[in-house]
Amino acid sequence: MSFLSYKELIEEGDTVILYLSANSMHALRVVRTILNKNNESVENVFQTTYGALKVANLVGKSFGSKVELTRGWAYVLHPTPELWTLTLPHRTQINYGTDISMIVFQLEIGPGSLVVEAGTGSGSLTHALARSVRPGGTVCTFDFHEQRVAVAKEEFDSHGLASVVEARHRDVCEHGFGQELDGRADAIFLDLPHPWLVIKHALKAYKQSGKSNL
Ligand SMILES: C[S@@+](CC[C@H](N)C(=O)[O-])C[C@H]1O[C@@H](n2cnc3c(N)ncnc32)[C@H](O)[C@@H]1O
Repeated sequence: MSFLSYKELIEEGDTVILYLSANSMHALRVVRTILNKNNESVENVFQTTYGALKVANLVGKSFGSKVELTRGWAYVLHPTPELWTLTLPHRTQINYGTDISMIVFQLEIGPGSLVVEAGTGSGSLTHALARSVRPGGTVCTFDFHEQRVAVAKEEFDSHGLASVVEARHRDVCEHGFGQELDGRADAIFLDLPHPWLVIKHALKAYKQSGKSNL
């Protein structure tokens, strides 16, 4: 599946948003079995305030359809960057929709842009950046926390963003963004504790003249 385009039917392996109400949504991976605390493979049954859902029953349902829970019902929605921001597993503080709209607007990015982001964090902003630059663009996102990079990369891949997002493990305050990005970035967004230490590296990564590919 891909967050970057819509499809009609849910397939095994997809990520879906289970919508109970505007204040209660969950991102689910449609897999038939999961591991329990004892590392045993068990049927994937997701518990909500309106009862349980056998996740395998979602396969073949249309995105947007109403699904039964044991004590109520919910809607199963196609994921978007906005819904992912509201449901993602937090590893860090994240950017939320209102700020993300302003960030994307002020970065003046669009299809074909090359955007550099640090840090990746939980990948909330990255999903919105990826949608903004496709087709033809790239988001190079950096974080110095190795495990965070690995988890984010796995999420980007399973959300169909692999062709747009490059997740890299690096301390950008110490080492900058790497020579291969010198003079190539249309936009750079810094969300880390000491952004002023990155300014000299950002100046190297920015395009030196001309406009973006917009
Ligand atoms: C607040 S989080 C970013 C959240 C992200 N914007 C989101 O929306 O999910 C800050 C991230 O910056 C990373 N970070 C802090 N200092 C860094 C550095 N010098 N180089 C690379 N990443 C760094 C942290 O590991 C953390 O994951």
